[in-house]
Amino acid sequence: MNYYVLTLFPEMIRSTVDISILGRAKANGLINVETVNIRDYSANKHNRVDDYPYGGGAGMVMEAEPVYRAVESVKAKLQTKPRVVYLTPQGRVLNQTIVEELAMEENLILLCGHYEGIDERVLQEAVTDYISIGDYVLTGGELGAAVLIDAISRFVPGVLNNQESAWFESMQDNLLEYPHYTRPEIWHEMAVPEILLSGDHKKIEDWRHEKSLERTKERRPDLLARSVRYHTIFYGTDIPSELPEKLTKAVTRYGEILDYNRRKLQKTRLSFGPSDVILFILGQDDPASTIDFREAFRNLKGRGTLLYFLSGRVPPDSEILLLEKGFLFAGTYLLTEQTISQEEEMSKIALEIRKKTDKMLANREII
Ligand code: ADE
Repeated sequence: MNYYVLTLFPEMIRSTVDISILGRAKANGLINVETVNIRDYSANKHNRVDDYPYGGGAGMVMEAEPVYRAVESVKAKLQTKPRVVYLTPQGRVLNQTIVEELAMEENLILLCGHYEGIDERVLQEAVTDYISIGDYVLTGGELGAAVLIDAISRFVPGVLNNQESAWFESMQDNLLEYPHYTRPEIWHEMAVPEILLSGDHKKIEDWRHEKSLERTKERRPDLLARSVRYHTIFYGTDIPSELPEKLTKAVTRYGEILDYNRRKLQKTRLSFGPSDVILFILGQDDPASTIDFREAFRNLKGRGTLLYFLSGRVPPDSEILLLEKGFLFAGTYLLTEQTISQEEEMSKIALEIRKKTDKMLANREII
C-alpha cells in the first residue's frame, strides 16, 4: 500500500508512521508513506501557499495552484488514477467499512488542509473522497491522515502478526469487542470468567458473541441498530466443502452455517427477522438433480430479511419467490472457480455484501 500525504507539515505524519507497528511495516516494505510538502509547489517566489479569502472574513485560504501541482506531481509518477482523499470535518465520517474499502486501493493520495481550508476549485477538480475522522474540528488534516493510514494498514497482509485479528474483529459486524483477560486468574479479588478456562472453543465463541452484543447494547446502542446476524444456507451437492465457511468468515465473525442438503434441516421451520441476513449458496444446475426452488424455500420464512444469492448460475424467479416468503432480495453474486479459490476475490465479495447491507439498513432506518 502506498500513501502519498500532501501536507504543509510532513513531520506530523512522519512522527506517527515511523514507530511501532507502522514503523515495522514500513521497514519491511509492506507500506510506503511518502510525504509531499505542498510548500515545495508554491507558485510564488516567497513560497507562499495561502491568501486572504475573497468576500472577507477571518483566516487564510490555501491557494489552488500549489495543491494542484502537488497532486499532479504524485499522479505523474503513477500509472493508475489514484483516489484523492481530502481530510475534512465536512466529509463522510470514517468507519470500518470505509477503511476496508480504502484498503482495497494500491495507492492513496491524502490531502491535508490547514488554515480556513483549501480553495474550493482545486477540491472540485482533484478530490475523489471527503473524509472526516469525527464530528469535531482539528487544526489540520494531518492527524486525520495518520488515523486513516493506521486503520487501513491493519488490512495490509503481513502488517499484523496475527492476520486473523484484522478480519475476525467484531467491529466488522458493527459490534464492540468482547472483554479480554490475561494472567493472573484472580486480580483484586476479581476472577476471570470461568468459561474462558474451559477450553471449549464453541462455548467460548458463543460467550464472546453474547458479551459483544451486551456491551454494544450498553455503550453503543446506535451501532447495535445497524448490526445484523448472517446465516449462510448452502444447498446443492456440488458446492465445494470449504466454500460456506470461507464466505461466512470473510463476511462476519459470528455467522451461522446451515447445510440445507440435510433432510432434517429441510424439514425444520426456519424463521428469520429484520436483523438477520441470509447468504444463500445455491449449487450449479445439474439436470440430474435439478433443484426445485419452491421446494428449497418451503420451510424458510423471513420478515423483512435481506437475502443474497451466491451461485454459479442465476436462480429463476428468485425475487417473486422471496417476496412471497418475506425476504428482501439484496443481490446475486456469481461464484466462479476464481472467486472460490482466491482469498482476495472472496474478500471483495464479502466487502460488497457488507456495504450493501449497511446501505440497505440505513435506508430502512429512514423509512
Ligand atoms: N480536519 C479538521 N478537522 C477534521 C476532522 N474532524 N476530520 C478530518 N480532517 C479534519
